Amino acid sequence: MRAMVCGKWGGPEQLTLTNVPEPVPKPGEVRIDVHACSVNFADLLMIAGTYQTRPELPFVPGLEAAGSIVSAPEGSGFKPGDRVVAILWHGGYAEQAVASVQETFLLPPGVSFDVAAALTSAYVSTALALVRVANLKASEVLLVLGASGGVGLAAVQLGKALGAKVIAVASTPEKLAIAREAGADHVLGHGDWKEQVLAATGSGGVNVCFDPVGGPLFDPALSTLGWGGRYVLVGFAAGQVPSIPAHRLLVKHRAVLGSSLRYFRHHDPAALRETMDQLFAWYAQGRISPYITLRLPLERTADGLLALAERRAIGKVVVHVRESA
Ligand SMILES: NC(=O)c1ccc[n+]([C@@H]2O[C@H](COP(=O)([O-])OP(=O)(O)OC[C@H]3O[C@@H](n4cnc5c(N)ncnc54)[C@H](OP(=O)(O)O)[C@@H]3O)[C@@H](O)[C@H]2O)c1
Repeated sequence: MRAMVCGKWGGPEQLTLTNVPEPVPKPGEVRIDVHACSVNFADLLMIAGTYQTRPELPFVPGLEAAGSIVSAPEGSGFKPGDRVVAILWHGGYAEQAVASVQETFLLPPGVSFDVAAALTSAYVSTALALVRVANLKASEVLLVLGASGGVGLAAVQLGKALGAKVIAVASTPEKLAIAREAGADHVLGHGDWKEQVLAATGSGGVNVCFDPVGGPLFDPALSTLGWGGRYVLVGFAAGQVPSIPAHRLLVKHRAVLGSSLRYFRHHDPAALRETMDQLFAWYAQGRISPYITLRLPLERTADGLLALAERRAIGKVVVHVRESA
């Protein structure tokens, strides 16, 4: 089968389209004919060898697989031909992938492979962070950093679906326009955004901050958190991991929380299925809709990854492994 293979640690340009053997499912795994896989920032970290885990070289990156079942274990509830999407550790940029039964989800009619790929890693991670970690409530104020990125734009849409008031921060007018289109109540550029957040929230400040960026945005964003505010760290796209002066948490009873899809995969797998069901329902009701700005064939996967690395991507980039995605 054709696959984009990472043979050495480095940037997207070193990925090569290669013919490799089809993956063999272990007990408890399905085999999927992959139609679409979306591009995620974590792929960049994984191929650079700087992610939390380092797969053994060579490996195929790609964190989800939307496609149809080729084979499934007895009693799994899946049969050949079922349309599914699966969360993967890696392996999505290939014509076939294997996935655990408990991380494979049947696609409702009306959800294309394209949409399913865009809706999975980014939206599941974001929904888990907002609902289960930050406990975001309707009528609270949500500040979203990196609001035009994969998880950022998902946070804007999910914040609105949960009934929150959403303030979106992004670096360019084009990115801000997309965040506004996705439902943000206020959009702010990188200038004096901290003062503008405080002006928009009155004296109350922000209830929840969703931060996939870190770096220089962390410090001013923490200052906007009001009494009892929750700051959810989901990633450090800016490359710099911030430090937290503890007194700034104590005084206003603030909490800084980490949220990781990996945690739920290891410790609360039931949350994944409940979250996918919720996402599919919101998609059917038109309350969320992944914003796919670029669709690329498998052999151009590196272009998609470069768009993320160079901060040009908006919303989701999806790789069409097969033309029918
Ligand atoms: N914890 C989890 O479960 C989880 C799940 C998915 C993703 N993540 C993490 O969340 C982060 C974002 O992932 P993503 O897939 O949404 O990426 P993405 O689509 O590339 O979005 C990243 C955003 O970060 C901002 N940014 C600021 N400095 C940047 C830099 N130096 N390079 C690139 N982007 C920069 C950009 O917005 P501006 O230009 O507007 O600043 C960009 O829109 C990553 O760190 C990823 O690992 C975590």
